[in-house]
Amino acid sequence: MSDKLEVGFARSVSVKGGLAVLLQAKDGDGPSSADGAITAGAVARAAGIAEFKAKSMGVLDFIAPEDAAADRVVVVGLGASSDLVAYDWFRAGGTAASKIGSSSAVAVFLDAPGVEVSAANAADFAAGMLLRAYKFDKYKTKRDKDGEEKDKKVKVTIVTAAAADAKKAFADAQAVVAGAILARDLVNEPPNVLGPVEFAAKAKELEKLGAEVEILDEKDMRKLGMGALLGVAQGSSRPPRLAVIQWKGGKAKAKPVAFVGKGVVFDTGGISIKPAGGMEDMKGDMGGAAAVIGLMHALAARKAKVNAVGILGLVENMPDGNAQRPGDIVTSMSGQTIEIINTDAEGRLVLGDALWYCNERFNPAFMINLATLTGAVLVALGTQHAGLFSNDDTLSDNLLKAGLHTQEKLWRLPLAPEYDKLIDSKFADMKNTGGRNAGAITAAQFLQRFVKDTPWAHLDVAGTAMASPATEISTTWASGFGVRLLDELVRANYEG
Ligand code: BES
Ligand code: MN
Ligand code: ZN
Repeated sequence: MSDKLEVGFARSVSVKGGLAVLLQAKDGDGPSSADGAITAGAVARAAGIAEFKAKSMGVLDFIAPEDAAADRVVVVGLGASSDLVAYDWFRAGGTAASKIGSSSAVAVFLDAPGVEVSAANAADFAAGMLLRAYKFDKYKTKRDKDGEEKDKKVKVTIVTAAAADAKKAFADAQAVVAGAILARDLVNEPPNVLGPVEFAAKAKELEKLGAEVEILDEKDMRKLGMGALLGVAQGSSRPPRLAVIQWKGGKAKAKPVAFVGKGVVFDTGGISIKPAGGMEDMKGDMGGAAAVIGLMHALAARKAKVNAVGILGLVENMPDGNAQRPGDIVTSMSGQTIEIINTDAEGRLVLGDALWYCNERFNPAFMINLATLTGAVLVALGTQHAGLFSNDDTLSDNLLKAGLHTQEKLWRLPLAPEYDKLIDSKFADMKNTGGRNAGAITAAQFLQRFVKDTPWAHLDVAGTAMASPATEISTTWASGFGVRLLDELVRANYEG
């Protein structure tokens, strides 16, 4: 649900009621020009009374005096102007959006005294507003307890000297926001509504943006020998799908960059069934696939100059008379055999086949997979960083940098032969769990057995894709983690 705010840019505006948002740096003067929405003196008086010091994301919120053109005024603090980084513009936009309340018209006066505001900053501010305004309320039939109207539209005008360029920069930013919101919507969607077939249909919709989309069904996957993925799917009455999305925005001969997502639309654990408490959260076990489709949406919508492939492994993990058992041995597309120890370690089985397929068919420049793969990564890193595992230091460093830039943060964890040994099996080439210790790492070692020497990174997003704490730009259950991160990775390193 992304359509609450309608954002435009202008060099000036004539305010008639509504909310005026002003910005102020700690080391700058108070806001001066606000097109008559409010006088500098009135702002200074309110700031004095409230002891507002413009610390980063501090807010001064007051009703405008009678003679002002605006009804309400919000001043957002930026902290010291020399400390400002790109992400602060997202945060400031998100903070402003959180203060809209019942206003249906908002004028944002972006050019704070002493602060150089670029077109990119303005676009990021607008993106922050949109991300913060997101609500997943399509299944609520009544008004919220705060009485807010469900489908209320808010018109936002962002006033800045850089308006013309900001508008252009915003077109790109909007593509990325739409991708992140697509990912959030899919993760928030209940599992009865979103099965593998429905998810695949969502992927198919990317054709409208010029992407090529193929959907492989069970028969196709059986022909390819994807016994690991199919073993997970066989306990569900809803059949699996593999979605293959291609965006060809780069040079014809350039190797594609590839992204592979775990799309377990619901994870009961299968025969190794999970405890009841909190199991509803496992509707979000397709957060990796949601990030990949969101990223592909972003790249296609902003016509990124890159060849990219997105692959989604879509299955449901259910207990059933036909479900796979602990002790089963399955043969993956790679030919390697896997002893199932725990049917709840299903994500790696899906990804093993999806990664192998991706590598064989596309010979990509690199592969990055995203997966809500282990509870163990939550134990290790909590909700602030996703786990990063990689066989390539350059790819890893580029990812870490993009993580800091977007504040979708990563922390690198090790891979090593000593860990790999832990998934050797008595009866098959490997087993699908490695025991109690180092659970996030042994899961990553499993995946590495399906990537050969291709540069590869695995992001374990179990702690960051859902149920993560609120930030200035996200208050919803599903964060959309990974879309902004990977868009930035591509933009900074692999375009053109
Ligand atoms: N989908 C879960 C991991 C998960 C846990 C995601 C919590 C989000 C929040 C995954 O399929 C799983 O069940 N992993 C097991 C692996 C174990 C059986 C080796 C786990 O982490 O307990
Ligand atoms: Mn599981
Ligand atoms: Zn799972």
